Amino acid sequence: MSDNTSLRPIAVTRSSMAPLDEYVAEIAPLWESRWLTNRGEKHRQLEADLQAYLQSPHASLFTNGHAALECALEALNLPAGGEIITTPFTFASTTHAITRKGFTPVFADIKPTDYTLDPEKIEELITPNTVAIMPVHVYGSLCDTDAIEAIAKKHNLKVIYDAAHAFGVKRQGVSAATFGDVSMFSFHATKVFNTIEGGGLTFTDDELATRLDEWKNFGIASDGQTVFAGGNGKMNEFCAAMGICNLRHIEEEIAKRKHAFEHYVERLGNLDGVKLLEIPDDVEHNYAYFPVVFEDASHTTRDEVAAALAAQDIFARKYFYPLTSDFACYSADFSAQEETPIAHDIAERVLTLPLYAELSDADIDRICNVVISCVNN
Ligand SMILES: Cc1ncc(COP(=O)(O)O)c(C=O)c1O
Repeated sequence: MSDNTSLRPIAVTRSSMAPLDEYVAEIAPLWESRWLTNRGEKHRQLEADLQAYLQSPHASLFTNGHAALECALEALNLPAGGEIITTPFTFASTTHAITRKGFTPVFADIKPTDYTLDPEKIEELITPNTVAIMPVHVYGSLCDTDAIEAIAKKHNLKVIYDAAHAFGVKRQGVSAATFGDVSMFSFHATKVFNTIEGGGLTFTDDELATRLDEWKNFGIASDGQTVFAGGNGKMNEFCAAMGICNLRHIEEEIAKRKHAFEHYVERLGNLDGVKLLEIPDDVEHNYAYFPVVFEDASHTTRDEVAAALAAQDIFARKYFYPLTSDFACYSADFSAQEETPIAHDIAERVLTLPLYAELSDADIDRICNVVISCVNN
């Protein structure tokens, strides 16, 4: 890539799109069928393709990941108004879904190693009102699923994984989609796999499949009767067609991201003062994000690096800062500094650098030069 090209602005992410002619061929039959939504042919095909790819007996599609998460909370028939133990080190959606469905989020701390919910912090927060645990496979790092599910089993709690970041991730060959009672994947435009907007739930329970189908279609059952006050969460045929096309290229997508991730590691791996994401040997990762945690215990270095990058039209993201528990709508009830000190500390020091399939080595070099010069000064 020429120097000129590499001096363009670099966004934190860039959506991957299958070749245009492939998408056009996929959607062309819709002009004949005029079946644009409500479980059309593309919807049914994508569900089947995802069941196979994600190794799950059910993959239920939604308009977006957040709607899927809210729907899962409703369809699991959890006792109303209960407490759900979750992480504050996540995107707004996780905490908002809990609150919007009438549950109370109870924040537990994360592990300093991979930033996922720390199983050792869960049990002390369980009360007679606890109904579920909602961990997040943050940045595509898989939670300690064995430990979390053992606690859930002991206390008869449901486990709903926010797997928005974990599409395609496997541990010892086992897909992220197979853990807990339900897992939610986001197919948002910026994710490793996208359907423009979209989301999906994976699970094993056949009855849950029926309830979810009804929920996302106004509570209308297969016999046409309206059996409860459901919502509308149906993925349309154009989004499903995008998913079908993008899924054909998923291995290439992840391989390109892996290359970019490894180039970052080559450049920053030996830099004192930064901690990079570690990928366990038994995990097939999706390289969704490149978070860097600066050693400086204040947020100064992180903020300086972000500002120095922005001055060169390079847009990194303080992801996740602030913690969701520090949002104005939650902070009155909670002190992150005292109650989840590790999450508080990581949120102060983390910066997620640009990462997407088409990010060139030259652009990564440009980004790393700024990071290295800030950290060394
Ligand atoms: C951790 C996490 N949870 C939930 C969501 C919500 O997904 P969507 O944007 O598809 O509604 C996102 C999306 O960005 C996310 O990053």
